[in-house]
Amino acid sequence: MTTTVIKNGTVVTADLTYKADVLIEGGKIIGIGPDLAGDEVLEAEGCYVMPGGIDPHTHLEFPFMGTFSADDFDYGTRAALAGGTTMVVDFAVPAPGQSLLDAYKAWHNKSARARCDYSFHMAVTWWGEQVFEEMKEVVGLGINTFKHFMAYKGSLMVNDDELFASFKRCAELGAIPLVHAENGDIVAEMSAKLLAEGNTGPEAHAYSRPSQVEGEATNRAIMIADMAGVPLYVVHTSCEEAHEAIRRAKMNGKRVWGEPLIQHLTLDESEYANPDWDHAAGRVMSPPFRNKKHQDSLWAGLASGTLSCVATDHCAFTVEQKRYGVGDFTKIPNGTGGLEDRMPVLWEKGVNTGRITMNEFVAVTSTNIAKILNCYPKKGAVLVGSDADLVVWDPKASKVISAKTQQSAIEYNVFEGIEVNGLPRYTLSRGMLAYADGKVLAPEGHGEFVAREPNGSVNRALSTWKELTAPRPVARAGIPASGV
Ligand code: URP
Ligand code: ZN
Ligand code: ZN
Ligand code: ZN
Repeated sequence: MTTTVIKNGTVVTADLTYKADVLIEGGKIIGIGPDLAGDEVLEAEGCYVMPGGIDPHTHLEFPFMGTFSADDFDYGTRAALAGGTTMVVDFAVPAPGQSLLDAYKAWHNKSARARCDYSFHMAVTWWGEQVFEEMKEVVGLGINTFKHFMAYKGSLMVNDDELFASFKRCAELGAIPLVHAENGDIVAEMSAKLLAEGNTGPEAHAYSRPSQVEGEATNRAIMIADMAGVPLYVVHTSCEEAHEAIRRAKMNGKRVWGEPLIQHLTLDESEYANPDWDHAAGRVMSPPFRNKKHQDSLWAGLASGTLSCVATDHCAFTVEQKRYGVGDFTKIPNGTGGLEDRMPVLWEKGVNTGRITMNEFVAVTSTNIAKILNCYPKKGAVLVGSDADLVVWDPKASKVISAKTQQSAIEYNVFEGIEVNGLPRYTLSRGMLAYADGKVLAPEGHGEFVAREPNGSVNRALSTWKELTAPRPVARAGIPASGV
């Protein structure tokens, strides 16, 4: 078998920075150390050798709001590799009433085009005996995470009783529930009122879902998870109120993780005031972009560790698709791109500014989520035996982000015009040179599904603790416990 060696680089992991060569064979790392030799050599002088990024939140070819998101697994994973990301976790979303296994099959078929490795979260968009039973089969298929939408009333939203039932099932199965935390009832009413008052433009999308709405839902989801005895992962945490709820829960020993998006960290609500409708609508996503106070809170969360992972929620729509919502902001398909830009923008705005360290960068773009999702150290690590999913990062390479040069299929980029200093020189996917010299080299279909086992260490620890502290009857002399 041919071997590849990455020479003269500096290995950067979530906890260490050191000079070493990295030797690869059969898709795995087989050696790390000085003076290694291989059949093929990749020069990494002046570069950092890091675990490839893992984006835990994408929607590729997602049927949503009357259309399909424009980037499929081909375009989406091309963008991923070009930006140093070597694994995406996409959401298989059954329509309400649809079988979870049918949704799995649909996503299995779509993902055949992937150029990098991928995994799935399964969404619970309705509740019943069938969902209860199928969740077990889904876990057997290698999916240990279940997503719940607390917003999108009338389509994907589930209510508190359904959340509680599903969270309890997750606890039994050793799975982790995820939530999109916004109070969907309030959003629906506020949207209708805004429309009735003539607020029809994209800016009204932001007015309809302020940060309080997210904070309330985050608190509620945390309480429900605590009652169900299960850890909780909060997707796209965008504001101080939600971060505060997560922070407080963590300080009280609850197992809760928060995931800010690169968009919320770096773009703000002024985008919705843009006089160009297409510009503003192109930034419509849920939750919406917020102000600097919230951005500072998210950055502080990354630096302090109260927020765990940076994702994109990549869900790209073309200008034409966004225009479904002309005259009615509630019909603008919600979502923005970001897969290609997540790592470079986080490096530029995080590492280059000193807000986070290089090791924290690796933690929040890769290692933390690999641990949470129970696929560490296969993914998210530079260790002997790990998959050779690596990025050789050149801190001196720079570019100005532009839709003209992006991999994504859409005509615009929400990060347009941002200069980034620090880019992948090479991206390797299971040892294959998947991106080099500005070109994606991994073919369509190279990506493999990453199966993830249930009952990760946090689930096990939490169930032990919940069992130990469960309510028990007090034994009293002369009074039978059964009450008979
Ligand atoms: O606006 C967004 N975030 N679109 C994708 C679906 C979701 O809510 O994550
Ligand atoms: Zn197949
Ligand atoms: Zn969401
Ligand atoms: Zn999403």
